[in-house]
This record gives sequence, C-alpha cells and structure tokens, in this order.
Amino acid sequence: MRAAAALFSTSWLTSAYAASYSLSDNWVGPAFLNTWTFENIADPTNGRVTYVDQATALAQNLTYVSDDTLIMRCDDTTVLSASDPGRNSVRIKSDKAYTTHVAVFNVRHMPQGCATWPAIWETLESDWPNSGEVDILEGVNDESPNASTLHTSANCTMPASRTQTGTATGNDCYGGDNDNAGCGVQAPTTNSYGPEFNDNGGGWYAMERTTDFIKVWFWARNDGTVPFDVYSGPAQIDTDNWGTATAYFPNTDCDLASHFGENNIIFDLTLCGDWAGAVYSSDGCPGDCVTYVNENPSAFSNAYWDIASVRVYQ
Ligand SMILES: *[C@@H]1O[C@H](CO)[C@@H](O)[C@H](O)[C@H]1NC(C)=O
Ligand SMILES: *[C@@H]1O[C@H](CO)[C@@H](O)[C@H](O)[C@H]1NC(C)=O
Ligand SMILES: *[C@@H]1O[C@H](CO)[C@@H](O)[C@H](O)[C@H]1NC(C)=O
Repeated sequence: MRAAAALFSTSWLTSAYAASYSLSDNWVGPAFLNTWTFENIADPTNGRVTYVDQATALAQNLTYVSDDTLIMRCDDTTVLSASDPGRNSVRIKSDKAYTTHVAVFNVRHMPQGCATWPAIWETLESDWPNSGEVDILEGVNDESPNASTLHTSANCTMPASRTQTGTATGNDCYGGDNDNAGCGVQAPTTNSYGPEFNDNGGGWYAMERTTDFIKVWFWARNDGTVPFDVYSGPAQIDTDNWGTATAYFPNTDCDLASHFGENNIIFDLTLCGDWAGAVYSSDGCPGDCVTYVNENPSAFSNAYWDIASVRVYQ
C-alpha cells in the first residue's frame, strides 16, 4: 500500500511538472576543457580522420577557447599521403551522462564542405545501440538529408502521422534495419544545416528527452519565435512554451524507457567514412573522397564548429 501510494504521488508530480526543468550544466568557452573528454579513438564510422587528444588539439589550434567561444576544427594546412592515417580532427564527449533532460545548443557555425560529416548527438558508446542514439544535428557533404534521427535496438518505430514541423525520412529506428538509417526527420528550412546555417549566423538546436517522447527543435539565429528560455539560458525553463517541435518521436510504438539509457553528449567532425564517403559523388563532390581529403587541406578552412554554449536542464 505504501509503495502504491508513493508511486501514485510520484507519477502525479512527474506529469504535472514534466515540462519544467532546472539548469544543471552550463558550458561556455574554457569550461569545455575540464568536463569533456577528447576522444583520440579510431573513428567507429571509418572516416578519413585521426581524432587527437586534448593536448594535441590545443597545440595545433584544432581546439581554441575564449571567454565565450569553443572552436573545434579539422586540420586545414597539411597535405596527407595515402599512407598517413587521416586528417587530424576532434571528437569530444561530455563526462556526464543523462537520461531524461533538456539540452540546448547555441551554435554559431558548423563544419561545412565536401567530405564533411559533422554531428551533435547523444549515445553511450560502450552499449550501442542498446542505450539508444539521438542525432540532434547531423548531415554530410553540405547536402540533404540533414536530419535529427534516432537509432535503437529492435522493436522501435515511429507513427507515420505525428505533430512536427519537419518531414520524416523513415520510421523504423532499429539500427539493424535499412543499413542503420534510423528514423530521421528533416528540418523544413535550408538554414538548419551547412553553408546556409553558417551564412545566417547559425542558431539553436534543443532536445528534450522524457520517457514519453523525444523532441528536437531548431531556431535559426534570426528566427523571431525563438523562446526566451532558449536564447537567454535562464535557471528554469518550461518546454511547454516552445511550440511545435521540428522532430517529434513519441513512445506510441517504441518504449523509450527501455530503448534509451544514460547517454553522453558528443560533438564530432569526421570526413568521408560510412555515410559521407558513400554518397560523396552523388552529392556532387569532386573526384574521390579520400583523395580529396588528402590533397586539399584548404578545402577544410570552413570545417569548424563554433559553439557559444551547451546548457543541460534536468
Ligand atoms: C587559433 O584559432 C582561433 C580561432 O579560429 C584564432 O582566432 C586564432 O588566431 C588561432 N591561433 C593561432 C595561433 O593560429
Ligand atoms: C536540409 O534538409 C531540408 C529538408 O529536406 C532541405 O530542404 C535542405 O536543402 C537541406 N539542407 C541542405 C544544406 O542540404
Ligand atoms: C515491442 O514493444 C512493445 C511496446 O512498444 C511491447 O509491448 C512488445 O512486447 C515488444 N515486442 C518485443 C518482441 O519485444
């Protein structure tokens, strides 16, 4: 009886206040250097990159912080030979991991150019895909499809009809189907990705994860509807005031609680590899992807992240 009463009151509280969250982590500039890990690992997606550690990233200025900026880039000066391991690049992971939460990303610039495959995403690398994967912002070669996507273990699909401003590209989230395409949703505006995103000063991506749904929103820098909660980063937020999400992934045919565990936040930039390399030519890029990366360092002068802040609310 006591247990039942406690459960009842907890679920009542949860549903009554589900949309209201408090700031738990606020990363700006130098803060990224202390509580994120620079992953100098072999790229699991087989890209033409060498992910470097923090000391190397700072020494080569592939990572640069000021009071209000985090810049992360790939090398744009070195000509590589075929036997070199790959163009130096950066992949960072938050030391903290999260279940239900809201993450708000204020991004001024994202990596652009042929061969680039940048992503902001959340997963638990040691238990993929059982802990789930949420790609908040991801694309390749400056082209569509750029999307917010879930990748999961079996038995997770999304309803064909649901309330979102984006367009679904697939509704089967299981990583074992469709060459791990996942269930993706494309944002409705071209300034959500790549050169147009950058020309416009970037914008904000936000993700809310509950046990009932995962939502992703995008607001361009000059979008008059961006909520106060998102642009000013207050201590308390209420996602009920944020309007229709760009991508909406409900738990209708996917038990989110069992398909998603504690996940870290990851920023990366790979080149070529399983996705960008596979569609490199059909995306209208010149020659062969790996050769292009090896021989044209200056083609990567705009292949950088400029992150104003990452805020997490719980
Ligand atoms: C390092 O990169 C930053 C950001 O792009 C730039 O402002 C700075 O001048 C660079 N420093 C050096 C020594 O090249
Ligand atoms: C991103 O996807 C949207 C929706 O399909 C598309 O209109 C847009 O062209 C894409 N953006 C880029 C830079 O390809
Ligand atoms: C698939 O998930 C549903 C809930 O979304 C559950 O009822 C069902 O038992 C699951 N099937 C399998 C084979 O796990």
